[in-house]
Amino acid sequence: MQRAARVPRRSAPAPTAMNRVLCCALVFLDISIKWATQETSPPKYLHYDPATSHQLMCDLCPPGTYVKQYCTATRKTECSPCPDQYYSEDWNSNDECQYCSVVCKELQYVKQECNSTQNRICECIEGRYLDLEFCLKHTECPPGSGVVKPGTPESDTSCMRCPEGFFSNETSSKTPCKKHTNCSALGLKTASKGNAVRDNVCQGNRDASAQKCGIDVTLCEEALFRFTVPTQLSPNWLNILADNLPGTKITAENIERIKQRRSSQEQAFQLLKLWKQQNKEQDMVKKKIRDFDLCENSVLKHIGQLNLTFEHLSILMASLPGKKVGKEDIERTMKLCTPTEQILKLLNLWRIKNGDQDTINGLMFGLKHLKTYDFPKTTIQSLKKVVKVLHRFTMYRVSQKLFLDRVGNQVKMVKMRSV
Ligand SMILES: *[C@@H]1O[C@H](CO)[C@@H](O)[C@H](O)[C@H]1NC(C)=O
Ligand SMILES: *[C@@H]1O[C@H](CO)[C@@H](O)[C@H](O)[C@H]1NC(C)=O
Ligand SMILES: *[C@@H]1O[C@H](CO)[C@@H](O)[C@H](O)[C@H]1NC(C)=O
Ligand SMILES: *[C@@H]1O[C@H](CO)[C@@H](O)[C@H](O)[C@H]1NC(C)=O
Repeated sequence: MQRAARVPRRSAPAPTAMNRVLCCALVFLDISIKWATQETSPPKYLHYDPATSHQLMCDLCPPGTYVKQYCTATRKTECSPCPDQYYSEDWNSNDECQYCSVVCKELQYVKQECNSTQNRICECIEGRYLDLEFCLKHTECPPGSGVVKPGTPESDTSCMRCPEGFFSNETSSKTPCKKHTNCSALGLKTASKGNAVRDNVCQGNRDASAQKCGIDVTLCEEALFRFTVPTQLSPNWLNILADNLPGTKITAENIERIKQRRSSQEQAFQLLKLWKQQNKEQDMVKKKIRDFDLCENSVLKHIGQLNLTFEHLSILMASLPGKKVGKEDIERTMKLCTPTEQILKLLNLWRIKNGDQDTINGLMFGLKHLKTYDFPKTTIQSLKKVVKVLHRFTMYRVSQKLFLDRVGNQVKMVKMRSV
């Protein structure tokens, strides 16, 4: 709506003797007079006066009014306010106001009631926008995309697929894509990398300290990895198993190298150990399978109660067959690892020193010989329980969930170790 500009009335500057100043003052005076005229007199229009058959310059009526009496040669235009439910928006020469015609539709509310200068204004209720005749719901951006421009009463939401480094895990007409949590900025490791629908998962400090202690394969993983061996050995079974492991693939070179190992049990163990190393970040083995967690927890329960001195750990390590874990290794392990982790780490070191011999067999061997030493009986009993857990454990179910479902009928798994 156009309105006559409101201009402040200015008084002309006082005349002075100096010509230059006078000249400029006159210009100002001239402008002031024009402004003043514009403000006091309404805009005009040409009106044909039937009485005199002349065109007259007449005043328009201001917004909110209409012409009640046209002007004549001797009389100005007479304006009158619009009646209730009528309006006029502009300076006008109409002989009546317009009716407030707008009626709000379903799902609209009266944003501005009609008054003498404006028709009624309707708007869609919260969460909807006008599409032709109807107030439609704002589109919700699905997971994986976020809001770029929220909807208004007149326009729909605008969504965009979350770009690299951003995610949205909700269906929403309001939320934009969020940045992935920066784990390294928080001093944490990235346990699992995010995507368009998931945030990064950071790994806390507790795991970082476990990594310093550095157990490469836990006892439960070893039991599982050694267990995953086919009964009917097709010549290609290792490749089939490798192909069907989730996550980062094992290279053909590595598979060929692993095939040099003597027994199929060793080959399976090497393959799965490598697979675990390559997929550490995802930690699929640990996190995904409940039966597997139960195994880890029950091993920790038995070992967690032990509180072995340096002497005890030395005797235990000396009892294992093959190459021995030295005193320096034991000292370093006691420094880096928590009491619970110490035995596990030392068994780990023994396995590595002995070319990935079966730790559980080694431990069973050692336990028989420990009886001849002065060694705490409770510790021997706890370690025997650990061995039992690893034997008894339903690795078959874990193996099925982790590998067999993918491998299908091509490779059948069987428990190799006797109970
Ligand atoms: C009519 O409503 C509009 C919007 O609130 C307002 O700007 C205008 O001054 C009103 N007119 C009168 C005559 O009150
Ligand atoms: C979305 O992610 C956040 C944090 O990452 C989480 O708290 C929330 O539960 C997730 N919402 C849904 C619907 O998955
Ligand atoms: C995460 O934070 C680190 C340190 O502040 C920074 O160097 C790195 O670029 C950040 N990464 C991303 C993806 O923003
Ligand atoms: C382990 O034993 C030592 C000495 O026997 C003791 O000082 C220490 O507090 C014990 N630690 C735990 C965790 O029980």
